[in-house]
Amino acid sequence: MIKKLAKSIREYKKQSILAPIFVVLEVIMEILIPFYMASIIDKGITNGNMQYIIKMGILLIVLAGLSLTFGILSGRFAAKASAGFAQNLRKDMFYNIQNFSFSNIDKFSTSSLVTRLTTDITNVQNAYQMIIRVLIRGPLMLIFALIMTIRINIEVSTIFLVAIPVLGVGLFYIAIKAHPHFEKVFKTYDNLNNVVQENVNSIRVVKSYVREDYEIQKFGNISNKIYNLFRKAEKIVIFNSPLMQFTVYMSILIISWVSAKLIVSGSMTTGQLTSVIVYATQILSSLMIISMVFVMIIISRSSAERIVEVLDEKSTIQNKKNAKRKVKDGSIDFNNVDFSYVGDKKKLTLKRINLHIKSGETIGIIGGTGSAKSTLVQLIPRLYDVTNGCVKVGGRDVRDYDIETLRDEVAMVLQKNVLFSGTIKDNLRWGKKNATDEEMIKACKQAQADSFIQTFPDGYDTYIEQGGTNVSGGQKQRICIARALLKKPKILILDDSTSAVDTKTDSLIRKAFREEIPGTTKLIIAQRISSVEDADRVIVIDNGEIVAFDTPANLLKTNKIYQEVYNSQVNGGDDNEAK
Ligand SMILES: Nc1ncnc2c1ncn2[C@@H]1O[C@H](COP(=O)(O)OP(=O)(O)O)[C@@H](O)[C@H]1O
Ligand SMILES: [Mg+2]
Repeated sequence: MIKKLAKSIREYKKQSILAPIFVVLEVIMEILIPFYMASIIDKGITNGNMQYIIKMGILLIVLAGLSLTFGILSGRFAAKASAGFAQNLRKDMFYNIQNFSFSNIDKFSTSSLVTRLTTDITNVQNAYQMIIRVLIRGPLMLIFALIMTIRINIEVSTIFLVAIPVLGVGLFYIAIKAHPHFEKVFKTYDNLNNVVQENVNSIRVVKSYVREDYEIQKFGNISNKIYNLFRKAEKIVIFNSPLMQFTVYMSILIISWVSAKLIVSGSMTTGQLTSVIVYATQILSSLMIISMVFVMIIISRSSAERIVEVLDEKSTIQNKKNAKRKVKDGSIDFNNVDFSYVGDKKKLTLKRINLHIKSGETIGIIGGTGSAKSTLVQLIPRLYDVTNGCVKVGGRDVRDYDIETLRDEVAMVLQKNVLFSGTIKDNLRWGKKNATDEEMIKACKQAQADSFIQTFPDGYDTYIEQGGTNVSGGQKQRICIARALLKKPKILILDDSTSAVDTKTDSLIRKAFREEIPGTTKLIIAQRISSVEDADRVIVIDNGEIVAFDTPANLLKTNKIYQEVYNSQVNGGDDNEAK
């Protein structure tokens, strides 16, 4: 795990090495200061040697200055190294996420990915800074101060033999006790992000259903849970300070008592006593720091694991070595295709699908919600891979194609399509990077989008807000269709993409398809029978199985499901014309 993370240090290796070096220098200065202070007291003050006092005083100021400078430098390098490391880590994660297939994304939830990219990275960043700075400083200080004390007086230093284990065991006990609570906190953060993200994303729905109170309560519950977990953890951690104070003062008391006797008997000087007391505080506070860093590192270990999980995740959809970059035509074949979202052959969403669609055909797809219409078409541009069997485009297994080539030739307007913040032109250029104005207007005309875009004051330069909130549902759908048309695909799939468009416009769009892109294979998933009435053939799908595949006229004679939908819509007139 560490190796995997360390890869992201890259150009910040220099800072990562310089920070500990300056920490070492800083510690040396801090250890020397009490040492020279002792000689000022013993040789200067006791003997009344003013010259010596001044000389050593200046030396002390220089040492203190150096210690400060080294401290600042090590702090700066550590901050630079850890911030740079975090930046690289975030980049690496983000790049990998961009490669994720739909099933990879299903595995991690979106909010969990967000937590991993933010909170978890911050934890690791803080831990890294601690490691290259504090974790070097603590033990080093402890050892140096101990050596100095032993050099001054062996007898006094035996006090530490008791104090260090007592404090050490106590602190580590606290750290280990508190750790599970902290661990739970981070798990709960995922939930919190989930709730916040869902709420903010769909704030309009929340408002229109007047569900604010419910949402507030949902949020309150989780944030309360986090509060309680933190409180539990802090309740334990709070014992750190009294334990620390107790040991420090006890030690100082005992040191003074022992040293007093030694001073009287002449085997120790007052100067030495002052430095031993300073060393004692240094030793015990280093222990405290070590235990704190210890907790930090355990906390960040779970964060690090969650980051590595994302870094290690291999896209389930990869290009083959000699991937084909040419799609012959827009024919589609499904040969004995089974598909399961969870890769479980017992939980099949699509069962035994056999389909043969000729290039240039217009195919309607009809079926109830949840019948797996979207699932069926998602296999064509390889958004998911089949569990069994094979899907062919242009007579070749889709897994043989270069993914980019395949997805350029198979344009799909997803059911839950989104526009990104930017102008209409920016959004259209997702279909074709360097599309000219003429091309864009042409595609928009085919998608029946040109007319309403022209009525906007800024026309094609109209700014679309994030998520496309400033255009209507039907307008958004038409821009999405135009965006797909710009690809000039061999296969065009519309997954319920005209549901918010009125029937007249819907039929105009289909007419444009028929006349202007006759060679393109068109798959149209629709709720409305009118959207598929003029298709060459219609697939009727139910519960993951194809129950019929025939011309609309034949289906009307033979297929019960088709008849039912037809009768309910045409005779019942239940055609929701939303605009
Ligand atoms: N990403 C997914 N992970 C797991 N199950 C899914 C996923 N998407 C859809 N399903 C399930 O697959 C079935 C078919 O869904 P879908 O193809 O979206 O139906 P339709 O488009 O016909 O309404 C449903 O039972 C749905 O719950
Ligand atoms: Mg669907």
